[in-house]
Amino acid sequence: MEVNIGLLGCGTVGSGVVELVQKRSEMIARLTGLEPIITRVLVRDSHKSRPVVFKHEQLTTNASDILEDPEIRMVIETIGGIEPARTFILQALRAGKHVITANKDLIAEHGAEILDTAEQVGMDVYYEAAVGGAIPLIRPLKESLTANEITDLKGIINGTTNYILSKMTATGADFDEVLQEAQDLGYAESNPASDVDGLDSGRKLAILASIAFHAKVTLDDVDVTGIRTISATDVAYAHELGAVIKLLAEGTDRDGNLSLQVRPTLVLKDHPLAHVSDAFNALYVRGDAAGDLMFFGRGAGSLPTASAIVGDMIEVLRNLRMDTALRVRHLLLPHKRVRRGQGEPTRYYLRLTVRDQSGVFAQIATIFGLAEVSMETVLQKRSSHETAEIVIVTHEVGQEQLNQALTTLYATDSVLTVHNVMPVTGGAQ
Ligand SMILES: NC(=O)c1ccc[n+]([C@@H]2O[C@H](COP(=O)([O-])OP(=O)(O)OC[C@H]3O[C@@H](n4cnc5c(N)ncnc54)[C@H](OP(=O)(O)O)[C@@H]3O)[C@@H](O)[C@H]2O)c1
Repeated sequence: MEVNIGLLGCGTVGSGVVELVQKRSEMIARLTGLEPIITRVLVRDSHKSRPVVFKHEQLTTNASDILEDPEIRMVIETIGGIEPARTFILQALRAGKHVITANKDLIAEHGAEILDTAEQVGMDVYYEAAVGGAIPLIRPLKESLTANEITDLKGIINGTTNYILSKMTATGADFDEVLQEAQDLGYAESNPASDVDGLDSGRKLAILASIAFHAKVTLDDVDVTGIRTISATDVAYAHELGAVIKLLAEGTDRDGNLSLQVRPTLVLKDHPLAHVSDAFNALYVRGDAAGDLMFFGRGAGSLPTASAIVGDMIEVLRNLRMDTALRVRHLLLPHKRVRRGQGEPTRYYLRLTVRDQSGVFAQIATIFGLAEVSMETVLQKRSSHETAEIVIVTHEVGQEQLNQALTTLYATDSVLTVHNVMPVTGGAQ
């Protein structure tokens, strides 16, 4: 039996979906007993040339041709952004169609509205492709690991920033130069803010944390710092300290208190996340029964993302075959609270420019001592005849103590600039 599917959008991801469904439809029919047929494809410009072949009547520029077609049982949304994707998805659900989406922005911002609507109308929404491209993350967290209390998530979940930081590490070039190159190659968007300011990672962390910690988490709950301030100097110091700089997304659940952070981090080279380069993504998950798990793979791209979407599509076909829906519900535990600005105790890297005069270092040591922040490593270099650069790596310290030391440092005349403060992970941690 055939199942008609409507595809909203046919760009990078949508065309990968068409290609993969065309290639695998026989196998999918054997697996599920149902043959998926993409009967209609919504685009903005039906005359644009595309890397996949359609029958002419498949393409439409009118969303109603999909949303109001009673023969279409499933809608795959690959338009991106909030509107009109949100309205189309809600309309599809209310018209009795199951929905699959790759849209992380929409799920992070309006996930509750979409999932509540789906529940009310008895339809499913699947969104494996929204985080980590090809890497199965949503389903393992929702299904395979359900027996666990998940306490820690830690990962690299944005390919663009990982590409930029990997290139800065490999070439010694500065941020602006590498960003420009990434834009020229199409790896970074012309407006790169969502990626380089950490918002994309923050949204994806919100999606993962909602599922893993059974809580309602949005981008507003995540402390986000991007990578614009990372310079070639920081990358070189990280190398001297046996580390690389990565944009890490971290979530922890400590007895119902959640902490969610996206920030550039020095990852010591003995940590597997130090070796996740270029556009690859990886996520560490710690469960009380499973222990530590690491997921790794391609975080974006046409076929990798289509792999996750078509996996979801097969799941919907299986449900249709068994005449079931809403098998996997989103559980919310009421006692979970998000604590902003309260990350786990960790080591920190600080880079300062100070006046090159006697007694300055003793002054800094006193400030740290009073805040009960102890120093593990200190690198001191002269930058000019009047200033010196100091790099400090602290022992493990709470965020509050560190902030206390920083407040005093900022107010100290001999400390001219605090360039960067980043956590350090790896080694014994
Ligand atoms: N690219 C990746 O590697 C990747 C990875 C994971 C998740 N995602 C997510 O997947 C989604 C799609 O990304 P993409 O890279 O495939 O985007 P894209 O290449 O820009 O494709 C968007 C498609 O949607 C169509 N479209 C846009 N606005 C429309 C409107 N108002 N009405 C009708 N059609 C419209 C476009 O039509 P035209 O072709 O006619 O312009 C195009 O076919 C996004 O949510 C993104 O976050 C992408």
